[in-house]
Order: sequence, then C-alpha cells, then structure tokens
Amino acid sequence: MSEDALVAAAKAARMRAHAPYSQFYVGAAAESTSGEIAVGANMENACYRLGVCAEQSALTAAQQAFGLENVARIAIVGGHRTDTAGGNGAITPCGGCRQAIAEAAGRAKADIAVICCDAAGEAREHYTIAELLPASFSLDPDAAGG
Ligand code: THU
Repeated sequence: MSEDALVAAAKAARMRAHAPYSQFYVGAAAESTSGEIAVGANMENACYRLGVCAEQSALTAAQQAFGLENVARIAIVGGHRTDTAGGNGAITPCGGCRQAIAEAAGRAKADIAVICCDAAGEAREHYTIAELLPASFSLDPDAAGG
C-alpha cells in the first residue's frame, strides 16, 4: 500500500473520532507487513481521564485483525475538528502512545515507521518508534526498543 493510501485511511478514521470535549480529532492507521490495515480514532469520555488516543485505538484493532507482531507502519493525522484543510502542523504521538507503539515493535522484533501528519495529511514528518522513544522500558529485555 502506498503511503498516501495509508494516510488517507487515517484521515477517514479521524473524521469518525469521538472528541466532543477537546474538539481535537486524531486518526491512526496501522499497516501490517502484508499490507492489511487497521484504523482507530480518539474516543473521549465524559470522565476525561478515560479517553483513549487514536494510536491505542488503532493498535487494539490491529491486534485483533492481524496481530501486533505484524505491525510495520502507522500513520497519524490530527488537528482541531475544523482543521480539515490542514496547515496546523504535523502532530506526533503522546508519550503513552509511543510506549504502545514500542510494545508492538517489541512483539514484531522490528522497528515501526511512524508517519506524523497534519489534519489534511499533507504536512508529514517521518520517524521510527526507536527515534521517538529511545531506550524504552520493557519487561522483556529481548523486546526492548523495537
Ligand atoms: N490524542 C490522540 O488521540 N493521540 C495522541 O497522540 C495525542 C492526543 C487525543 C487525546 C484527546 O482525545 C485529544 O487528542 C486531545 O488531547
């Protein structure tokens, strides 16, 4: 799958965010090594601390669809609900989501590419999870750091 198609999947997921409290809509699309896609968006809760980020949501779907150990790339798009035309700057995953992606990398025993985008998917920054979360914590020394 092309990067544009993966980013488009994340954009479509973003439009299905449930984020009435922050109005900040985030979508994520995880791609497997064989080209399957699992998507997610942030899901907020009136008890604010129970909200779930887009990346965690996509990784939950990926675990069910093809297994965390097969995640190769993840694209993230985000911005205020009204930022559909972009121009808000690429967003990068929060610390908790970096840990979640690092755990998938540990399971995969491979680094994971992270494509960070603005709301339109036009401004893009390319990282790997090892770059975004170096020396990550792991209970399994063999799985640390992707
Ligand atoms: N959010 C994500 O979905 N992913 C991130 O990496 C950072 C933040 C969500 C959480 C909350 O619903 C909204 O964006 C504002 O923080």
